[in-house]
Amino acid sequence: MKARVCRETVVSFCCSKFAAIFLFLAVFVFIFVYFNMDVLEFQHKAISTFPAPKPHLQHRFCSFQPRSPEDALEERLLLDSIAWPETPSLPVPLSLEQTTDPAQSTFTILPEKGGRQWHVGDQLEVIIKMYDFQGRPKKSGGDVLLARLHNRALGAGVAGQVLDHLNGSYSAVFSLLWEGSAQVEVTLVHPSEAVTVLHRLTREQPDRIYFQSVFRSGSVSETTTCNVCLHQTQQPLCNYTDPHTGEPWFCYKPKNLGCDTRISNSVGEFKHKLKAKEEKLFQSGVNMKISIRASGSDSVTVLPKKKDQQEVKSNIVQFGPAGYYFQGVWQALGGMTVRQFNTPSAINQCLKGKFVHLRGDSTIRQWFEHLNAVLPDLKEFNLHSLRNLGPFMALDYANNILIKYRFHGPPVRSPNHVPAIELHYIANELDRLVGGTNTVVVFGIWAHFGSFPIELYIRRLQSIRRAVVQLLDRAPGTLVIIRTANPRVSTLFVSLTNSGWYSLQRDKVLRAMFKGLNVHLVDAWEMVLAHHLPHDLHPQPPIIKNMINVVLSYICPQKGS
Ligand SMILES: *[C@@H]1O[C@H](CO)[C@@H](O)[C@H](O)[C@H]1NC(C)=O
Ligand SMILES: *[C@@H]1O[C@H](CO)[C@@H](O)[C@H](O)[C@H]1NC(C)=O
Repeated sequence: MKARVCRETVVSFCCSKFAAIFLFLAVFVFIFVYFNMDVLEFQHKAISTFPAPKPHLQHRFCSFQPRSPEDALEERLLLDSIAWPETPSLPVPLSLEQTTDPAQSTFTILPEKGGRQWHVGDQLEVIIKMYDFQGRPKKSGGDVLLARLHNRALGAGVAGQVLDHLNGSYSAVFSLLWEGSAQVEVTLVHPSEAVTVLHRLTREQPDRIYFQSVFRSGSVSETTTCNVCLHQTQQPLCNYTDPHTGEPWFCYKPKNLGCDTRISNSVGEFKHKLKAKEEKLFQSGVNMKISIRASGSDSVTVLPKKKDQQEVKSNIVQFGPAGYYFQGVWQALGGMTVRQFNTPSAINQCLKGKFVHLRGDSTIRQWFEHLNAVLPDLKEFNLHSLRNLGPFMALDYANNILIKYRFHGPPVRSPNHVPAIELHYIANELDRLVGGTNTVVVFGIWAHFGSFPIELYIRRLQSIRRAVVQLLDRAPGTLVIIRTANPRVSTLFVSLTNSGWYSLQRDKVLRAMFKGLNVHLVDAWEMVLAHHLPHDLHPQPPIIKNMINVVLSYICPQKGS
């Protein structure tokens, strides 16, 4: 009895020891495999040249992966480069007390004691100090701030660069570019606590904007939900992943119809599950898009440029602004001259013989509309397209100008039922272009991606960039122009789906992605931020006119520049 017990004890001791090791290994392998699903597939290729990238931990029911190990590595580096400072976790129940209060926060022009003389060419630095609703200084960073310097009477404005010191204080740096008065404006877009919520929403509810497709065959018709991120259910999926680019798209399969009977795509409702009181973090007039006041003066007087005196430069910024407004006209910095195309004939002369492809969201469609409106000889065909979505085409027969517009591939947040067959990915469109010196490609893609994991946007841009590189390779004379994102009005709905913070992050990715290529940027971000008109998803005509002048200046640069 005793011996048996002993033996059993030994055995079970052995067993339990092995079991423990085995269990440990099993759990380890499981965890490893689970979190490395995306990676494992291509690791055999990756091992030699690239370190294994970290997998997508955050988006388990979003079914997509980078195209190659190189793309996966770039994704990782991009994610690191845009990493937002850690933002506070929220108290339960939520109260605003310890969250950022723009009304109690202030900015101060440096040096604090004043007395400095400012000249054109100098840089102006302000320090921004954030406080909570109880009037206590904030100790952490992560607030979303925008800054600009302007003079309304002179029609002058320039975007500032904001630097987060991660301790509740921020710096904003401005280039002084005109003589006379210059007024600082600092805006809190979101308190850092709101970023905590935005982060979580993307992680937990990447399907908070969902889409629908109508399927039809004969008299049978069904509607199902579509998305990049679809929860696996009993219902089988239709996999519309693009065979060429690998861009993901899925719908639940209709019960009685096949996947090839998909007719249209439209946006479904917006459903989100904010936790109790979280909407308090997104209140217009309280803590969203609110100006911060100055302690002391909010303006400086800028004197003419001094010849011999050393310019005052801030040592905390590396890059200056892309341009600035003066008398309402956008002036580019960094070598390019923006020409003014004030008459239809000046525009016609520039566009003569050109085939202009406009691709992207409605912020690019605005440019099509603008050219159509200002060029009397440009005639738009009625292609019986959907009003907002196109495709559109306009021709000036005499001048041999053809302008086409087409929306980008899904996700497309339009309540209209877009024919599924009209949803074309930009990369695929570019792959079908011959290109050449008479071809101008203009694209802008950002506004429909805010609610998705940023990895989806990175993936999309990687496909487009591959197509751009190939296009420029086979037809080096092709001109490629990219429109960046821009800040927009904030409401609760906009914030949760397309907040300025989402756009800001995506905009950084876009710039990094196309850096160093022979492409041109229209810096819509700065052009909207620097202007006195309200931040609008669809910027108002004076801003559009300036943007078009930039576009045309790329197509027809000033002689000698
Ligand atoms: C925050 O950090 C900045 C930069 O390091 C420093 O100049 C400033 O004094 C700090 N502010 C506080 C309140 O600690
Ligand atoms: C969808 O199809 C693509 C390519 O055909 C494939 O790589 C992917 O694994 C499929 N996704 C799902 C969830 O079936």
